[in-house]
Amino acid sequence: MRPLQMLPKTFLSLLLAALLTATSAWATDHPAKKAEKTAILLVTFGTSVKSAQTAFDHIDRRVRTAFPATEIRWAYTSKIIRDKLAREEGKSLDSPGMALARLMDDGYTKVAVQSLHMIPGEEFYALKDNARLFAWMEGGISRIVVGSPLLSDDEAMDKTLQAVLDKEVPRDRKKDEAVVLMGHGTSHYANAVYGNLMYRAQRLDPHIYVATVEGSPSFDDIMAMLLQKKIKKAYLIPFMTVAGDHATNDMAGSEPDSWKNLLKKEGIEAKPVLKGLAELDPVVDIWIAHLKTALAHL
Ligand code: CO
Repeated sequence: MRPLQMLPKTFLSLLLAALLTATSAWATDHPAKKAEKTAILLVTFGTSVKSAQTAFDHIDRRVRTAFPATEIRWAYTSKIIRDKLAREEGKSLDSPGMALARLMDDGYTKVAVQSLHMIPGEEFYALKDNARLFAWMEGGISRIVVGSPLLSDDEAMDKTLQAVLDKEVPRDRKKDEAVVLMGHGTSHYANAVYGNLMYRAQRLDPHIYVATVEGSPSFDDIMAMLLQKKIKKAYLIPFMTVAGDHATNDMAGSEPDSWKNLLKKEGIEAKPVLKGLAELDPVVDIWIAHLKTALAHL
């Protein structure tokens, strides 16, 4: 005999009536839950270098293909670049805060913010802290998750280094010709990433070096190594999201203190490759994987 059959029929109908009343009372007291609307916000430092914009266009296409049904917006963290683009090109770009406020106003309830930064440094943590506050406000976005920047683990570092070797270093490079990757670098403790990157680069190929503009290893550190190893030719490649201002000027520029000219002065032939990491599909795959993880946690 099944357990329900042991109960008198009248008791069962009373129970059912009580449950129905309770449910309808609850439904009238609490208005139906607002429909969830999900958006993706891509956040980068930004660039005002026109040719570097192609790298952002590439990411944009890839993200739209991966998430065709989701609203996708952009924000630039650099105020200098936003102002410059507004002044010179009439382009209006949002800061992350402005973009999140607009999403809130447009009724989005869940937002995956994907950092297109290289390392979890100062800008990444500022973005994470500020984004979190939007989820605290009443009547707006209820969930915000910030996706990790590119170089978040060893695997991502190895994949990115390999992609640069496969797609940016010319095929006819000889074994004793160096590849110098230009990282940004920072005074934030996340600069430690570049030390790990240098170690992993050297493990992959003893003539790949990582030098940074603002951190360690510095260009002088790497120059000393190149001279000690009697390197005669070096490929210079930006290890940044886009080949922007640092790549075109500090690395490959015509000023006497550009990396290209400093190498030349020491008798090392320098060949700059002006391509940003965001132009490489295997690298964008990593950002998209981080974005998928963020969306899964919404
Ligand atoms: Co900079």
